[in-house]
Amino acid sequence: MDAMRIKGGVRLQGEVCVSGAKNACLPMFAATLLTDQKCVIKNVPDLSDVRFMAEIVASLGAKVSNPKPNVWEIEAKNISSRAPYDLVRKMRASICLLGPLSARMKRAEVSMPGGCVIGARPIDLHIKGLKALNCAIETEGGYLKVDARRMKGANIFLGGRFGSTVTGTANILMASVLASGTTIIENAACEPEIADLCKMLAKMGAIIDGIGSPTLEITGVPKLGGAEHTVLPDRIEAGTWIIATLATRGKVLIKGAVKKDLGALIDILESAGANIQIKSKSDIFVDGEGLKLKPVEAVTMPHPGFPTDLQAQLTTLMTQVSGISIITERIYPERFMHVSELGRMGADIVREGPSAIIRGKTPLSGAPIMASDLRASAALLIAALCAKGETFIQRIYHLDRGYESIDKKLALLGAKVERISDSDLPSF
Ligand code: EPZ
Repeated sequence: MDAMRIKGGVRLQGEVCVSGAKNACLPMFAATLLTDQKCVIKNVPDLSDVRFMAEIVASLGAKVSNPKPNVWEIEAKNISSRAPYDLVRKMRASICLLGPLSARMKRAEVSMPGGCVIGARPIDLHIKGLKALNCAIETEGGYLKVDARRMKGANIFLGGRFGSTVTGTANILMASVLASGTTIIENAACEPEIADLCKMLAKMGAIIDGIGSPTLEITGVPKLGGAEHTVLPDRIEAGTWIIATLATRGKVLIKGAVKKDLGALIDILESAGANIQIKSKSDIFVDGEGLKLKPVEAVTMPHPGFPTDLQAQLTTLMTQVSGISIITERIYPERFMHVSELGRMGADIVREGPSAIIRGKTPLSGAPIMASDLRASAALLIAALCAKGETFIQRIYHLDRGYESIDKKLALLGAKVERISDSDLPSF
C-alpha cells in the first residue's frame, strides 16, 4: 500500500490539464458490450478503476486492448452474461454491466454490489427500471439474475428519495437502446457523464432524445455498431483543482475545466468572494492570492446542483475561511469520513445530522492521517497542502482510483509531494 508525504505551505502555481472523466468512461466500457463491433474510447484516464473495469469486461470474453496511453479498444464479439463475483464486488460501478448484458444477451448475472464507506448503495431503482422493461429479476447467492427475453420499452420514473440515480440511469438507458418499442425515462440523471454516454450510444446507432435533460426518450433498435468516442473532461477533478488553488492561495490555469459543468461550484465560490476567471468554455483561471474568502452555506444535490463528489473538498477549503460555514450532504448523508481526519490536523468541524458545521479559520498542522474513500482522500490532500509541516496520508490507493498522475500534476504546480511505501513511514 502506498502512502504520500506532503510538505505543506506551498501555493499552487502554474497550469494543470484535467484528465478524462472516470464516471463517464466506466459506463462507456460497459456500453461496448452492446455490440459485437469494435469500439475505440479516447481520453480515458489512467486510473485503477478504469483498469479494473477493463479487466471485468475482458473476463466476460471481450477483446480489450490499450494500444496507447488513454486509448482503449474493446470488441465484445462473444461474451458471457455472468459477471464474476470476485471482480464485481470490488467496484460498485460494475453494477452498470446489468443493462448492457440484459440488452445484448437477453440475460445477465451480476453480483450485488456491497455498500461502502460513504453510505448504503442501494440498487432498488436499477431493479425498478429493469422490471418496468418487462425483465424478470431474482436474487440468488448474492447474484442479481435478469431474464430479459421479453424486454420491451416502457415509461419509467427513475427518481428515488435522494433524487436521480447516475448509474441507475446509465443501466436503464443501456438496457432500453435494444428493447423493442420506446422507453421514456423520467427524472433521469442529468450529470454530464450521462449526456456523454448518450452521445457515445448515439454514435453506435442508438436513438435517444432529450440528451442532458431529466427526460430521456429512447427508441429501441435491433442492433448497435461500433464507434469511436472521446471522453469529456472530469468536472470533479477540475473542481478539486479549483478548490485546491483557492485553499493554498495559489494561481492556476485549469485546462479542461468546463464552466457549464461546474456552475454550482463556481456560484458558491464566487459568493464567497473567489476570483474565478472563465478563460474559454473549457479553461478556468483561479487567482487565490491574497484572498479573504467569506464562509458559505452549501447543499449537495443531483446535477446541475452542487455535486456530492466535491463536498469533502469544499469542507477542507472552508476550514481556511474565517466564520461559520454549513455544508449539507443530501445525496450520501454519511459522507463525512474526512471530518475526523481533518480534526486531527486542527480543523474545527462539528457534525449535525447531514450537515458539517465548519468553524474557520483554523491553522492546520501536518499529521499522519488515513484516506478512507476517493473524495475524502482528495480533501485530506488539500488539507495537507495548506498545513504547516509534513503530512503522511496512508492508503493513498483511494486517490489513485479517481485522480490520474496526481503526484506528477501536483509537483508541476510546485507542491512538495512524494509517494512512499508504508515501510518508509516514520514512527509517529
Ligand atoms: C455515481 O454513483 C458516481 N459514481 C458517484 O461518484 C457519485 O457520488 C454519485 O453518482 C452521485 O453523483 C459513478 O458514476 C461510478 P447514484 P451512483 O445512484 O450512480 C441513492 C466518485 O467519487 N440510490 O446517483 O452509485 C443512493 O443511495 C463516486 O466518483 C437509491 O436510493 O450514485 C444515493 O443516495 C462516489 N437507489 C443517491 O441515490 C438506487 O437504486 C444517488 O446515487 C440507486 C441510488
